[in-house]
Amino acid sequence: MDAEAGRKPLVIAIDGPAAAGKGTIAARLAEHFGLPHLDTGLLYRAIGRIMADRGFDVDNEEIAAAIAENLDPDDLRDPRLRGHEAGELASRVAVHRNVRAALVRFQREFAGRPPGAVLDGRDIGTVICPDATVKIFVTASAEERARRRTDELRAKGRDIDYSRILAEIRSRDERDSSRATAPLKAAEDAATLDTSELDREAAFAEAVAIVLRVAGQAAQTAAVRRA
Ligand code: CDP
Repeated sequence: MDAEAGRKPLVIAIDGPAAAGKGTIAARLAEHFGLPHLDTGLLYRAIGRIMADRGFDVDNEEIAAAIAENLDPDDLRDPRLRGHEAGELASRVAVHRNVRAALVRFQREFAGRPPGAVLDGRDIGTVICPDATVKIFVTASAEERARRRTDELRAKGRDIDYSRILAEIRSRDERDSSRATAPLKAAEDAATLDTSELDREAAFAEAVAIVLRVAGQAAQTAAVRRA
């Protein structure tokens, strides 16, 4: 597939709840199609982490928005951002409207540069890139997601309880889906990819098939319009 043929950047938007596998799928799609990848969760994680480190209350919108406006790409390199705690902090700062507004331009500029990009998050297909070429909503049952996250944390040597992780995943789903600004939901034109019964390889293969199908259709429509 030739991204230039469509004359528009190939933008792949991946959204979905915690631990559904969207990060892995997004990174592999980016590699496969030769596109840069932005894990947008890192932006919210960095803001939450900076606030906690400096002793600020993460529920303070004004401070969170000021940090968002001054976020430096180097802030995204902190290895602690990948951790479970940073995810919890992220979902608390992510409810603030002014925090989200401060991050829109950075994400859109990343997506708009040729030849395109893969972005993963919660509101990529709905708010950040409503015109993305391909939108995939990656999901899985809460139980399966909790099982994966528990395995992941245990593999890192953490003594963690499955039922605690399941409760946290459920409350994070609830917070992300019910917030007033940019709630987690599938875009109307997103393809849903349920990974509950799929291993990593099968989920990736399915994602590639969706991209080829949807981007192929988009290229055809663009060609017909140009003809
Ligand atoms: O995959 P996981 O949910 O563990 O991590 P993440 O994608 O880094 O997201 C962490 C939190 O950041 C989510 O629970 C959301 O509240 C928030 N987030 C968001 O609101 N919008 C995004 N585009 C990305 C993340």
